[in-house]
Amino acid sequence: MRNVNRGNKEKMKGIILAAGKGTRLYPITQAISKPLLPIYDKPMIYYPLSTLLLAGISEILFIVAPDSIDAYRSLLGDGSRIGAKFEYAIQPVARGIADALIIGEDFIGDDDVCLILGDNIFCGQNLSNVLKKAGAQKGGATVFGYEVKNPCEFGVVEFDKKKNVISLEEKPSEPKSNYAVPGIYFYDNRVIEIAKNIKPSARGELEITEVNKKYLEMGQLRVQLFGRGITWFDTGSPDGMLEATKFVSRSQAKRGRYIGCIEEIAWQQGLISKAKLVKESKNLRSTAYGKYINSLC
Ligand code: G1P
Repeated sequence: MRNVNRGNKEKMKGIILAAGKGTRLYPITQAISKPLLPIYDKPMIYYPLSTLLLAGISEILFIVAPDSIDAYRSLLGDGSRIGAKFEYAIQPVARGIADALIIGEDFIGDDDVCLILGDNIFCGQNLSNVLKKAGAQKGGATVFGYEVKNPCEFGVVEFDKKKNVISLEEKPSEPKSNYAVPGIYFYDNRVIEIAKNIKPSARGELEITEVNKKYLEMGQLRVQLFGRGITWFDTGSPDGMLEATKFVSRSQAKRGRYIGCIEEIAWQQGLISKAKLVKESKNLRSTAYGKYINSLC
């Protein structure tokens, strides 16, 4: 196992997994990668990217399918536009979420990692602090719990009366709780070896829930509940996309503040200067998105 004596935690790297086939969205995703589809006024991938930026993470690996790497590169580039550093890797076959941690081995190096799914959208009060706190914890893994009506569609976490975690199950037909585990996970460096040692599930995938179960067995899994102030969408289905689109459009119209505006967040996080923000707004000035950025300058 690499990096046993890890010493001081230096850095948290980010991985966005955007390589799935998106079969729940066919025929929409037959010829286009799901996270490139729009959620209201921006590509879906902007939202998980903005979540990582809010977590204070700016070194990010995008794992994509072979036929969409050029599209991602042309949309996002090397990240320098927003003061970040982006790399790209290919997942040749959809082998499951945990496979991202194996593909990302060299990128992760000796650091810790936050993995987020390309179709998961998070927004809400204090999100940045909640995520930064999760990322600052030393050793082990931190995942989240979010109360839902349809837990059997997700990874599900069960608690005892004292809110200790008892079990984790992937898409159980009889869920033991209403708490889904959303697609954002913070891990220490041991996750690479853990991911390499799990066996594919019945659907032939390296399940992220198996990785989380290993941390649970080691007594090193923290599950933090997202409260009512935080909203989560899995936009892997037409209804999920519609729901998120309605939420983003209504929220932006009502509050006048954008959700998932990567330039704004990069500026807030100190990754780019005001001068750079002004430049970005000029490049996009013909759209409402560009005008919004301009209004911040
Ligand atoms: C995946 C995970 C599941 C998690 C969900 C969150 O499911 O396997 O544990 O709750 O993402 O979006 P998928 O939607 O890829 O089937």
